[in-house]
Amino acid sequence: MENQNKNKMQYSFNCVVLAAGKGTRMKSSLPKVIHKVAGIPLISHVISTVSQLSPEKTVIVVAPGMESVQQAAGAVSPSSKFIIQNQQLGTGHALKVTESELKGYAGKLLILYGDIPLITPNTLQRLLETAQSADIAVLGMRMENPYGYGRMIVDSRGQLEEIIEERDATPEQRAINLCNSGVMAVSGRYLFPLLEKLTVNNNAGEYYLTDIIALADDMGLHSHVVEAEAAELSGINTREQLAEAENIMQWRLRKEAMASGVTMIDPASVFLRMDTKIAPDVIIHPSVVFGAGVTVESGVEIRSFSHIEGAYIKSGAIIGPFARLRTGSVIGVNAHVGNFVELKNTKLGDGAKANHLSYVGDAQVGAGANIGAGTITCNYDGVNKHKTTIGEKAFIGSNTSLVAPVSIGAGAVIGAGSVITQDVPDGNLALERSQQIIKQRKPK
Ligand code: UD1
Ligand code: MG
Repeated sequence: MENQNKNKMQYSFNCVVLAAGKGTRMKSSLPKVIHKVAGIPLISHVISTVSQLSPEKTVIVVAPGMESVQQAAGAVSPSSKFIIQNQQLGTGHALKVTESELKGYAGKLLILYGDIPLITPNTLQRLLETAQSADIAVLGMRMENPYGYGRMIVDSRGQLEEIIEERDATPEQRAINLCNSGVMAVSGRYLFPLLEKLTVNNNAGEYYLTDIIALADDMGLHSHVVEAEAAELSGINTREQLAEAENIMQWRLRKEAMASGVTMIDPASVFLRMDTKIAPDVIIHPSVVFGAGVTVESGVEIRSFSHIEGAYIKSGAIIGPFARLRTGSVIGVNAHVGNFVELKNTKLGDGAKANHLSYVGDAQVGAGANIGAGTITCNYDGVNKHKTTIGEKAFIGSNTSLVAPVSIGAGAVIGAGSVITQDVPDGNLALERSQQIIKQRKPK
């Protein structure tokens, strides 16, 4: 992704992202732009996309108490400037409060909303290109159901004359399906004078950013529409739209993975994160979920119903069905993790196997070791976590509890059903269970 604009013209611009809205339609205690798509907040998607075009400055408008938004955006672009909009008086007002940061800048100002996570760098690049020869360029989209969006009124020469909000539109204007995405590039020298002229004479009683188009037209300035896919530009205002965006993003990620050589038997049931890294010739069976921070090397097979996060899986390993890999799992070359096995903070050596019904946490397992069915590392004593070490080619019999801290030597064998509390030297057999008793029944 980072290199896709390599051969293209680099435009210099400043960027403003509006994210102070309450997002009441989400019915959430979280700020809207903190809700996630493919595992990362909406605002992080927008900031990371725009960062690929190297803005000179990024200004983000937030409301008081939105520390979580500042944190999420700052993690993606540490040089971002945050401006607090104390009262949410509308998108036009949100831009007004950035004046202290941006006044006097005569280049292009790229304005985005924090609730459009699907926008791509290519589309922003197209907008900036058009903006070079227009005073204002606005990204528009054709919507089958334009309800809720600002409608774009374009004259016979293709010039954008006005944007009318849903609430203020006549029935004829509502029939227009060319909708405002909210993304625009405006010449810095005109923006603040135009914002000065905004009023709240509309049905929402807000300062609409979109009103600057008609005001610019009155001044003889030129505004152009750049059209792009609705799938990229639609804004998230409700939980239903959040789910639609997730679906679009998942298909993007699945298609990218398949195009790079990954087999997905049923892609629709595989869920990826923005940061999932899967090498070519990996086979993913139906119903697999990836959490954050997963890397999968070539030749790995991931079978159905596995849940994988924070894991590095080396080549040729077989995972699942029904495996759970948690943070800090490193699976060695050709190792196997089978059904109902949970691994956490555990290194499983090359060729090692944990095939059935086990919990292995805070452990180091040597190459070729075999963890029998029902093995549990008892890593937590109620206060602290402790480590278990299992040597190369050790054999842990079924239904064994390894009470950490404990170390099992290379080639050691643990008898089934043992509760192991002491270290076992290399090559030795350890057994811990009471002797079996057989009592003959007296014949009646
Ligand atoms: C806005 C546009 C509409 C467009 C649609 C596209 C206006 C008046 N309307 O409507 O033409 O079709 O987006 O998705 O601009 N925000 C602030 N401070 C405020 C108000 C909003 O920072 O005082 C931020 C929000 O956090 C959000 C963005 O601005 O990221 C847009 O606000 P939202 O309420 O979602 O506007 P829409 O009703 O969707
Ligand atoms: Mg919106």
